[in-house]
Amino acid sequence: MTPAAFITLEGIDGAGKTSHLERIRGWLTTQGIAFVQTREPGGTPLGETLRQLVLSQPMAPQTEALLMFAARSEHVTQVIAPALAAGKTVLSDRFSDASAAYQGGGRELGLTRIAELEAWTHAGLQPDLTLLFDLDPVIAAQRVAQGRSVQDRFEQEQLAFFERVRAAYLARVAAQPERFCVLDAARSIEHVGAQIILALQALQARRS
Ligand SMILES: Nc1ncnc2c1ncn2[C@@H]1O[C@H](COP(=O)(O)OP(=O)(O)O)[C@@H](O)[C@H]1O
Ligand SMILES: [Mg+2]
Repeated sequence: MTPAAFITLEGIDGAGKTSHLERIRGWLTTQGIAFVQTREPGGTPLGETLRQLVLSQPMAPQTEALLMFAARSEHVTQVIAPALAAGKTVLSDRFSDASAAYQGGGRELGLTRIAELEAWTHAGLQPDLTLLFDLDPVIAAQRVAQGRSVQDRFEQEQLAFFERVRAAYLARVAAQPERFCVLDAARSIEHVGAQIILALQALQARRS
């Protein structure tokens, strides 16, 4: 994949993002593609400190959005932009689509506010490929309940919240369809994994 690509994983909690990171890492390694793996909120020392706060402390929706973008600003400046400039592909577990979905949709701040923060924080930078793990929140909640003993502030939210998050993700797809690969995350891990490899191969073919 030359030049370096910016790849993000998105979707509601329990949709399967983390489960597929290893397969994506394996594919990039096999292809000889130098990459940096990172996550949001987080990805820098300051970002990880903000992550702890935002996942645990009660706060107003706009405070939550601003902290997410504060962490993202640091992440873009310190990690993402330098890696891409050095020719490395960046693989991030969440990016700004998550703010559009969770703060814009879930917390009902609206997509315009999020777009303003994006323009301030990373004008001109969007992922080259976003893998959206699309899943019915009822199934996602069952997976989270089975897999996690302690749930963070977001994972504790009700179904209606995750319905809004899912709808906002799909609104982002409608607005910027060219960079999204929407995965039916209700299918088996093997099926979803195969779809991901196809999307990575298509990205590589587009960019080489
Ligand atoms: N396609 C799938 N089918 C069934 N279970 C899945 C699938 N993808 C992931 N899981 C399971 O669902 C749970 C949540 O997956 P995870 O990858 O942690 O989601 P996320 O990182 O998106 O929150 C895990 O226990 C995982 O094993
Ligand atoms: Mg995860």
